[in-house]
Amino acid sequence: MSHPQTLQIPFPEFMLSIPTIQDSSQKLQLEHEKSKNICISHKKIVPLREKYTGRSTRRMTGSELLNIAQANKKDEFYTQLADIEAELKYYKKYFKGKIVYCNCDDSEVSNFTKFFINHFQDYKIKKLISTCYKPLSQFNETSIPTYIVYDGTPESLTPMPLKGNGDFRSDECVDFLQQADVVVTNPPFSLFREFVKLLYDYQKYFLIIGNVNAISYKECFKHILNNKMWLGQSIHSGDREFQVPQDYPLEAANFRIDANGNKFIRVKGVRWFTNIDCDERYKHLPLTSVYSPEKYPKFDNIDAINVGKTKDIPRDYKGIMGVPITFIDWYNPNQFEIVGNEYTLNIAGGRGYVNGKRLYSRIFIRKV
Ligand SMILES: C[S@@+](CC[C@H](N)C(=O)[O-])C[C@H]1O[C@@H](n2cnc3c(N)ncnc32)[C@H](O)[C@@H]1O
Repeated sequence: MSHPQTLQIPFPEFMLSIPTIQDSSQKLQLEHEKSKNICISHKKIVPLREKYTGRSTRRMTGSELLNIAQANKKDEFYTQLADIEAELKYYKKYFKGKIVYCNCDDSEVSNFTKFFINHFQDYKIKKLISTCYKPLSQFNETSIPTYIVYDGTPESLTPMPLKGNGDFRSDECVDFLQQADVVVTNPPFSLFREFVKLLYDYQKYFLIIGNVNAISYKECFKHILNNKMWLGQSIHSGDREFQVPQDYPLEAANFRIDANGNKFIRVKGVRWFTNIDCDERYKHLPLTSVYSPEKYPKFDNIDAINVGKTKDIPRDYKGIMGVPITFIDWYNPNQFEIVGNEYTLNIAGGRGYVNGKRLYSRIFIRKV
């Protein structure tokens, strides 16, 4: 099914009372910031590339660009349909009779919305809600935040104006959230913690894209620890491509422009986060290594052995083991118990040390 064409939509109510928020000097500073791609959040004005890389000549990686997106609140990274299909296929049974909410998704461009419209029948979805966010600065007569509530009829594909700006935290969007069974989207990187909190506050099922480092966020780890959140099935390593708007500064090392002039960047560390169960979650991780005190030294500051790589978890060790956070990619709750991380175990120094050497963040586990 094709996406609807842009429609003439009346201005939303609150546009009639947009306050004048900036005095002229603020406006000038913002214009300057935009035109020079400069971060003014610190006292010293620093070009963003220098601020994040310390260098001004090297091309940035996709992850560095993501950091900038986060700092700059530029969140426009559009998920590819193939990546959505690759993950969603594991949960087909779950979606039967469900109300799905894509709450960071412009129904005219989002591949999440497109996926659920295309699979409305075969996934037996009850209803699809899709809302779109537009910051005030981007409002104009042809670009306003809209929503659809798709029930399988062509009429329900017509986008309607939202009352507000489509912020997922707004009353209007929280009302939609309350109606929904499950949220499926790629939320803004800069608001991931708040996004996750809202999902748990409203006790929703979800399937969302985030960065692997979010495993360690306390807003996420507490749920991972309690077996109330885990990682998806289709991405365990490598990078994924996202489309970015035409005006994005494409300085990333891994970028591409297709034959139609569309811009894409490849981003490392992408993962699906979910609380929807599927059979694949319970796959046994094959363990071949054997414990020896030489190969697996103890931490200085916690009674556990250090395991540098998930694949090297010894099959015969019964005590606590500190493993990289990417262990969560392979975590089978029938095989391992998660004991905690540096934060929940309140480890002195905030990190595990081995022979005086501070290690990367670890998750502490033991075999069931
Ligand atoms: C990483 S992009 C992903 C877009 C889309 N979900 C997709 O995967 O293609 C995040 C989206 O969240 C939107 N966004 C930013 N702040 C938001 C907010 N407060 N509430 C809802 N959406 C927001 C951005 O406009 C952007 O389109």
